[in-house]
Amino acid sequence: MIRLRAVLAPVSSIFAADSASDGVSIRRATINDLGDIIALENAAFRGDRISARQWRHHLESLSAGVLLAIRERRVVGAALLLFNRRHRIARLYSIAIAAEQRGRRIGERLLLAAELAARRRECRALRLEVRTDNAAAQRLYERNGYQRHGERHAYYEDGADALRYQKLLG
Ligand SMILES: CC(C)(COP(=O)(O)OP(=O)(O)OC[C@H]1O[C@@H](n2cnc3c(N)ncnc32)[C@H](O)[C@@H]1OP(=O)(O)O)[C@@H](O)C(=O)NCCC(=O)NCCS
Repeated sequence: MIRLRAVLAPVSSIFAADSASDGVSIRRATINDLGDIIALENAAFRGDRISARQWRHHLESLSAGVLLAIRERRVVGAALLLFNRRHRIARLYSIAIAAEQRGRRIGERLLLAAELAARRRECRALRLEVRTDNAAAQRLYERNGYQRHGERHAYYEDGADALRYQKLLG
């Protein structure tokens, strides 16, 4: 827990300064945010939801990082990063922005904060999967330098395929 704090705390301070202009800040989640995270998750995803139990596990795990976008003291976005110490590849397992806040590049803020957290963990790449029919998310990733590196057939609960993206972090 201490190590995770040390890794992610600087992210919140850097992005807080950056976001003063539009009132959005990024910070690391705590267990006290669990209710807000689940509400966001349930509103954003119809299937393949992360359960409350899984979120709790991730919030307490050294192999995960949960970042939140905050506007007017409300949680308006969340991102879940999973770290793999052996491969030095981080995985963006989930990212969601509240429906009424979409289109304002808050997702991009979270994505950049996730990349920064992955770099601080000395990861050489950030990888993710996205549904083939999720054009908004694909726009977000491609605009931020993510490249397709494969597909996963019937990856989602409803049988939908996934596109795999990665960004080398350098
Ligand atoms: C994908 C998501 C995180 C993007 O967050 P965001 O803060 O809206 O991101 P951006 O503002 O950078 O917009 C990304 C793209 O969304 C689309 N978009 C713009 N306004 C939008 C709106 N009001 N509503 C929905 N999508 C919109 C656009 O295609 C935009 O790309 P463009 O500006 O280059 O045309 C968000 O749409 C979301 O939470 N979706 C539901 C959960 C999800 O699909 N997560 C991704 C799983 S891989």
